[in-house]
Amino acid sequence: MADIHVALLGFGTVGKGVYETIKAHQSRLRAILGKNVKVAGILVRNIEKHTLPEDDILLTSNFEDILNLPKLDVVIEAIVGREPGFSYLKKSIERGCHIITANKEMFAYHGNELLELASQKNVACGFEATVAGGIPAIQTLRTLLNVNKIERIEGIVNGTSNYILTKMREDGVAFQEALQAAQEKGYAEEDPTNDIEGYDAFYKAMVLSQIAFGEQPEWQTVRRKGISSVSNSEIGLFSEWGLRVKHVISLEKGVRGLSCSVKPVLVGPSHPLYSVEGVQNAVSIDADIVGNITLQGPGAGKFPTASAIVEDLIQLNVNHGCYYEQEKNVRFKKDLHHDWVVLTNQTHVFLPDSIEVAGRVKEALFVNAKEKDIERLLEVYPGLNIYQLYGQMNKEFFKNILLSETRPERKVASPKGI
Ligand SMILES: NC(=O)c1ccc[n+]([C@@H]2O[C@H](COP(=O)([O-])OP(=O)(O)OC[C@H]3O[C@@H](n4cnc5c(N)ncnc54)[C@H](OP(=O)(O)O)[C@@H]3O)[C@@H](O)[C@H]2O)c1
Repeated sequence: MADIHVALLGFGTVGKGVYETIKAHQSRLRAILGKNVKVAGILVRNIEKHTLPEDDILLTSNFEDILNLPKLDVVIEAIVGREPGFSYLKKSIERGCHIITANKEMFAYHGNELLELASQKNVACGFEATVAGGIPAIQTLRTLLNVNKIERIEGIVNGTSNYILTKMREDGVAFQEALQAAQEKGYAEEDPTNDIEGYDAFYKAMVLSQIAFGEQPEWQTVRRKGISSVSNSEIGLFSEWGLRVKHVISLEKGVRGLSCSVKPVLVGPSHPLYSVEGVQNAVSIDADIVGNITLQGPGAGKFPTASAIVEDLIQLNVNHGCYYEQEKNVRFKKDLHHDWVVLTNQTHVFLPDSIEVAGRVKEALFVNAKEKDIERLLEVYPGLNIYQLYGQMNKEFFKNILLSETRPERKVASPKGI
């Protein structure tokens, strides 16, 4: 029986997970592929750190050794950062290898180029593991793209941020304490900037945009905000109203182009992302025929990520880079009105007429406005914390918040009125 020869670039959490998964499920892979999957070479930065799992595997810190392997069909990349992953994958494609990557940062920058090069060389490029770990978001989008038009994607794609926000709400702790707990559990890196400032989620949003809409928005036009400015008093206040703060990526394509944001928002109980808690991830897709599909599951970790990579390995011969040009018939999101909560922090805020105030509760203004008007407001008052409300805020729900908060005043007022 013939073998499929695989090289692993990187042998950390993900690389080891892929190796162990291939070993543990060899007979299943053989049954599907009709071939054995053989790891022929492993590239690391520092050889001394590693012991070889098997004698006949090449372990090297020199990529040329991998490229010169006599038999090589698939190169799987699980290194951190834009380089050297991009250059190594380009060379792998040029040699005629299929490629699979878990590296979202590299793929957000260079995915388009890699997909085009792979298409020219008639090899496949798998990147399921770049977004939401074990959740088959890319595979689902590819399946939907055959006939459906993707209208909108919303997702919780950073488990660290979601864990921190959940912990702050459930235990009433401050951001720093929740971050420390995430670090102790191994959910957050020593330098957590990428996760808590929204960069990791931003890269994933760019990868999703490329596959769903065939293009990425201009990066500098994307509003990216992390969770480090979210306070536990805000979370406590919103909890009383039945709302949860979630760090959400949103993508939508309309007549004036792509709209994308990466930011903390307020999610109501009717929204599919409301119940996504802890390190869980979820991707919610609205398509014109099927309606809403929400996928939820583990967004990172050794085996969830390995699962995505090994599934890509199976799909290599089926799916090559897929683009889809949508008809431009969706209204641009910035033209639509949304509900927002503006926390005024005791600042006297002058609102333009374009922002309609639905009610005031303590220091929170409930307003209805276009995104561009909110952006203008933030230019004038950069210190304001403004949360968009996700999920249908039906009138009853909204009225209940206002009523519960204003009830004491009414009690005082009512005797005089009798
Ligand atoms: N961890 C997850 O749950 C997860 C989930 C989805 C996607 N990803 C993505 O997958 C990639 C790998 O993540 P990870 O958690 O496995 O990272 P990791 O544990 O830090 O492992 C990184 C591996 O890459 C090797 N490496 C780093 N720089 C290198 C270089 N210049 N040349 C050759 N090898 C190099 C390291 O070698 P040494 O061991 O010798 O240092 C190490 O084996 C990242 O892009 C990450 O964003 C991770």
